[in-house]
Amino acid sequence: MKIAVIGTGYVGLVTGVALSEIGHVVTCIDVDPSKVERLSKGIPTIYEPGLEELIKKNIGSGNLRFTSEHQKGLPDAEVVYIAVGTPQRADGAANLDYVEQAALDIAANIKRDIIVVIKSTVPVGTNFHIRNLINQHTMNSVRVKIASNPEFLREGSAVEDTFHGDRIVIGAEDAETGEILAQINKPFNTPIVKTDISSAEMIKYSSNAFLATKISFINEIANLCESMGANVEEVAKGMGLDHRIGPDFLKAGIGYGGSCFPKDTNALVQLAGNANHEFNLLKSVIEVNNNQQVLLLHKILSRFGDDIQGKRVAVLGLAFKPNTDDLRESPALVIIPKLVELGANVIAYDPIAVNNAKKQLGTEIGYTEDFTEALKNADFTVIITDWSEVKKANLSIYSQLMKEPIVFDGRNCYDLNEVKKATIEYYSIGRPD
Ligand code: UGA
Repeated sequence: MKIAVIGTGYVGLVTGVALSEIGHVVTCIDVDPSKVERLSKGIPTIYEPGLEELIKKNIGSGNLRFTSEHQKGLPDAEVVYIAVGTPQRADGAANLDYVEQAALDIAANIKRDIIVVIKSTVPVGTNFHIRNLINQHTMNSVRVKIASNPEFLREGSAVEDTFHGDRIVIGAEDAETGEILAQINKPFNTPIVKTDISSAEMIKYSSNAFLATKISFINEIANLCESMGANVEEVAKGMGLDHRIGPDFLKAGIGYGGSCFPKDTNALVQLAGNANHEFNLLKSVIEVNNNQQVLLLHKILSRFGDDIQGKRVAVLGLAFKPNTDDLRESPALVIIPKLVELGANVIAYDPIAVNNAKKQLGTEIGYTEDFTEALKNADFTVIITDWSEVKKANLSIYSQLMKEPIVFDGRNCYDLNEVKKATIEYYSIGRPD
């Protein structure tokens, strides 16, 4: 199939590259010429394990190319994927400006009947709106069919998830369109769920909202465990063995971040509100998460009697989770400005997110890509991201390098028995201190 993918963000790029890897001829279109220039040379614009090799391989085989000109990528395509961002608007709803612009670009450039596939996470009803928008604006006598094909990739393991996903959801407006999409995706060898368009749109939001709910639930249990002397890890293990509950997404911490859960939970609350439905459960999930993101600060302030003025603080991890350089909605963006405001001198470590962090956190704090550098002479350490370098550290490093080995661990990186042996002062989430 000849496929065009509009948008080379994390979803669009991984989708385009994966489709080229399974044999389709793919043109990825992005309005940013500097991105296109880098990608055309085989240099990824996002950090994603395994992606660079696939980009280079498929550019080499002629299956993959990049352009910033719609007229070069669209007229030939049989299927066009829209994979542009749907950022959060101030009122919590999804901003559809980029999706609508993509629709107008498609209308202006297509010369044959095509299928438009929406990958972007969009509110229920958007697929039909976009199809109508294209059909209204197309200058030729061509018609488009629409299909919803939401993605379930996690940042940091997007390539792995694409080739070993749990399911591919296809919501199509008719059986023929659904079957074409199923054929396109067949080489992924993943169970395909064919459904109607509105249900497909809803599956995406419901899945993210449910996963966010699991996280907020276990975080509330963690907070209860702290008051009751239980250990949330033991509780999660005991719960997760029940196959109806499952072990995944029951890791307590300082809340979910990233470009998806915060945005999609807010959008679903908003969508429900538009349909006169108060989604109270999801509102609570969001509230629990907001509180959880500042939990470590409360622990720090209570340990230091509300005074951290002039203290040197090692912050370990800036990204919202390991294996990504993405800081969007990271607890680091909530905790670090607060530490600075309270007069602490922050030195932040991250193996790959430092450049991105500088753009958002500025020069008021120090940065390092060397874990030990951050610890040197620190009064206390705050762990925000469970990077493997941090998890596998020998705990003696804290007493060796820090002024005082006081560690606030927002990700439960260490075994409590090891902590005891290392004689560090250690505070984690939902486990006995
Ligand atoms: C999430 C979903 O997992 C994907 O299925 C979905 O496709 C994607 O959003 C999206 O909509 O694009 P992602 O945001 O990349 O993927 O990251 P996750 O691995 O799901 O983690 C999200 C946040 O939850 C992270 O901050 C992580 O630290 C936190 N988390 C996750 C926990 O606190 N506890 C857990 O047990 C799991």
